[in-house]
Amino acid sequence: MPKLAYTTPGIETADAERVVDLLQDRLFAANDLHLTLKHVHWNVVGPHFIAVHEMIDPQVEVVRGFADDLAERIATLGGSPQGTPGAIVAGRSWNEYSIGRATTQEHLGALDLVYQGVITSYRAGIKELEELDPVTQDMFIAQTEQLELFHWFIRAHLEDKAGQLATAGATTEAEAARAAS
Ligand SMILES: [Fe+2]
Repeated sequence: MPKLAYTTPGIETADAERVVDLLQDRLFAANDLHLTLKHVHWNVVGPHFIAVHEMIDPQVEVVRGFADDLAERIATLGGSPQGTPGAIVAGRSWNEYSIGRATTQEHLGALDLVYQGVITSYRAGIKELEELDPVTQDMFIAQTEQLELFHWFIRAHLEDKAGQLATAGATTEAEAARAAS
């Protein structure tokens, strides 16, 4: 990220630059996630189509709102949010969602992995922001709470009566999709 010419009062410029980097990484993640969730909304098939199709849309809306909040926080700190599709692909540190048309269970299995990745990175950001910027940390905490709730909605479809997840131990989306189906 380019250096900041100014930032909000009371925060060191070097600290603000690191905060902007953390925000930008989560902006890539939120933009990627809401697009991926729409892709799932369009590609699920099978007897539970309507339940999963309709469950996904409110998540899309909330995550789009996260992207807006993250981007505006970057601008508030004197930075320039990167929101174009090419910037997402160039800047993200994870792979493209790998499942096309597939059953609801397969997509939910893969989404379990997606949410694991997104939430783990939010948690790391929260830890780092403890010293850097409690205001941005507060935003990350609020967004993580919502993401963890949505992750539970996904996982509730993958859990058996004993509380075991079908996707336990899966390390790739394809593996999780297979395990869930
Ligand atoms: Fe739709």
